[in-house]
Amino acid sequence: MRTQVGIVGAGPAGLMLSHMLHLKGIDSIVLEARSRDYVEKRVRAGVLEHGAMDLINTVGIGDRMMHEGMVHHGVNLRFDGETHRIDFERLTGRGIVVYGQQEVVKDLITARLEVGGQILFESSDVSLQDIDGNSPTILFRYNGEDHLLHCDMIAGCDGFHGVCRPSIPERVLHIHEHTFPFGWLGILAEAEPSSEELIYASHDRGFALHSMRSPTIVRNYIQCEPDEDINEWSDDRIWQELQRRMATREGFSLNEGRILEKGVTPMRGFVAEPMQYGNLYLAGDSAHIVPPTGAKGMNLALKDVKILADAMVTRYETGSMDKLEDYSRRCVLGVWRAQHFSWWMTSMLHRFDQHDVYQRQLQLSQLRYVTSSDAAARSLAENYVGMLWDM
Ligand code: APR
Ligand code: PHB
Repeated sequence: MRTQVGIVGAGPAGLMLSHMLHLKGIDSIVLEARSRDYVEKRVRAGVLEHGAMDLINTVGIGDRMMHEGMVHHGVNLRFDGETHRIDFERLTGRGIVVYGQQEVVKDLITARLEVGGQILFESSDVSLQDIDGNSPTILFRYNGEDHLLHCDMIAGCDGFHGVCRPSIPERVLHIHEHTFPFGWLGILAEAEPSSEELIYASHDRGFALHSMRSPTIVRNYIQCEPDEDINEWSDDRIWQELQRRMATREGFSLNEGRILEKGVTPMRGFVAEPMQYGNLYLAGDSAHIVPPTGAKGMNLALKDVKILADAMVTRYETGSMDKLEDYSRRCVLGVWRAQHFSWWMTSMLHRFDQHDVYQRQLQLSQLRYVTSSDAAARSLAENYVGMLWDM
């Protein structure tokens, strides 16, 4: 088998890259470990920055997002029993779109398959060969047979636990990592949203977040132990804890409903640099992850791919490798901005067991500052709606 760009992973990064290359007449084949049904149903992130929304529209797959996505012009920070709104529109002239990652994935899969794009679902035993030589090759098993995929370049879009990043020699990669001493317990539930916009709550019992997916589906999170046993959390206990952490002096009550799904996610920041080696280019979670407090994960994956597609197209159109050589440097500027913002939001909003009263007062003072000073609020707002899309 032969293609121009071999892509490992059919998440937002791999699929968007394949779609963008196709628009410029460049062939790719996507190898995905899971089934189509699995990747289309996996509940993940849900916030698209303004730049991500623009990209999705520009590449022609934005119809359903514009119709079903929920445009938000701000977010709420809740602490001391009171709610404070950060008005993105007034502070930055921009907003965000709440639209599930699996919806973006569905739209991209539809677009690829409509024009005969090849996504080989349930490919197994993927490994890379000769990534620093002239004939990069992907070995894999599909439909019970072993295959070799020869390509000009390989895109490692296979997420945090994929095989592409570990294919780069250890001596080349610099890993920067920070693990937070807590996790998030997330639920998807059948209930009407209790607020028009997201609510980030900082409470003495721990952080909580109210988000949504549609006018009838909510997505809520509570801070928990990093190794929390989900079996310890009955539906009643989850709702009770959410109600306590979301409570206001005015008597706010969160709408409850049937819980459709629940799970625990650890919280960490991770960056692998450089995001390239030879003819292998990493994009998205395979190169970096952020704690979800800043809602940056899916946006970073799409931003990497925008830069990578541009560099690959330049190689085919002009023969110049300059942009490809500069790929990692261009990406990591945005990656580190998102790392810092996500770390800052996480540090401001969560309960740290080792904190004393002094440190809790610092968090509250920061929250009061960011919700009362336009200068501080604008800094949060411009990071949240997204920066560095035109690198
Ligand atoms: N072979 C083939 N496919 C693989 C392999 C492998 N060895 N390992 C992983 N994959 C697939 C996964 O099944 C998944 O579908 O790679 C895909 C990676 O997709 P994502 O994890 O969604 O990563 P990415 O496209 O970078 O998107 C990042 O995902 O986790 C969220 O918060 C994150 O929103 C961000 C987004
Ligand atoms: C979500 O809706 O899943 C979501 C929203 C905001 C975040 C994280 C997750 O910061």
